[in-house]
Amino acid sequence: ADFFFSSSGLIGRSWAMVFAAGGFRVKLYDIAQEQLTTALENIRKQMKEMEMSGVLKGALSAEQQLALISVCTDLKAAVEGATFIQECTPENLELKKKIFGQLDLIVGDSVILSSSTSCLLPSKLFTGLKHVKQCIVSHPVNPPYFVPLVEIVPHPETDPSTTERTYALMKKIGQSPVKLNREIEGFVLNRLQYAVISEAWRLVGEGVISPTDLDLVMSDGLGMRYAFIGPLETMHLNAEGVSSYCERYAEGMKLVLNTFGPVPEFSGETVQKVNQALSEKIPVVPKVLDARRKWRDECLTGLAKLKTQMKSD
Ligand code: NAI
Repeated sequence: ADFFFSSSGLIGRSWAMVFAAGGFRVKLYDIAQEQLTTALENIRKQMKEMEMSGVLKGALSAEQQLALISVCTDLKAAVEGATFIQECTPENLELKKKIFGQLDLIVGDSVILSSSTSCLLPSKLFTGLKHVKQCIVSHPVNPPYFVPLVEIVPHPETDPSTTERTYALMKKIGQSPVKLNREIEGFVLNRLQYAVISEAWRLVGEGVISPTDLDLVMSDGLGMRYAFIGPLETMHLNAEGVSSYCERYAEGMKLVLNTFGPVPEFSGETVQKVNQALSEKIPVVPKVLDARRKWRDECLTGLAKLKTQMKSD
């Protein structure tokens, strides 16, 4: 049986839609029935809208996909018969440990226990569990429906077959999985993201560039190619291969890198400066923020379409 369970927050809902699009039966679990009711309404609305605009994923209609999703407030009933469990509860170590402890007592030996955690390490989440071999982190990027990357991070005791099965499942539902060979703080995506944020913060803090221009460097510069090729392929293509790039640019890169400042505090004047600039452009009002998020998701949908068209492997 194809079953999958999660919590019904922002990420849980998005996972549910991704799995349903892949033709899987999904059971959404949450502590409050009203949370589940809202989640279902929200999923229905999103799927219908996407169907209307021709961007619904998968071979099934919105109604067929909706029929695959059911809800449940009983943990035991929720995981009954599940082959894959994607935990999406709030980012709180104690809470997640409690949930995995409960799951550990009721699941069998073949189900995969996977966590959506953004930054809790598998060794913190899963150590001591009876079913630790079946535990793994599958870290999505928000919103997973439009951004396919999933970081698969094993616990030191995770069975290689758990990693392989999770990887294959993610592929099957159309996500883009990557495997980390071992856990590390921030996994890979956030380490790269924080490297960018910290230099952005220093440049704005030191008055080298304005906050809005800083963002343009990414959205109209680096980001244009990063949507298609990574930093390493960028090196490869910007010279006659990586070796030639290193020969030509290693000294220059090191010169620049050695001028980087320390880890920023992310407090004080720079917060005000960045916040003021961003708030002028996008006032911090729920309606405005939501409209901007909607626009972002539309952009991502368009980009996803383009990426499919341009696919060459
Ligand atoms: P959220 O707050 O939107 O959803 C959390 C859900 O958990 C809610 O539906 C809540 O009712 C439910 N919940 C609370 N206590 C519970 C309990 N004891 N048992 C079962 N369910 C319970 O949070 P969000 O943003 O969906 O995040 C979920 C996970 O996904 C977190 O670990 C987060 O780090 C991770 N994540 C979040 C991303 C994001 O950008 N929001 C991106 C990637 C991962």
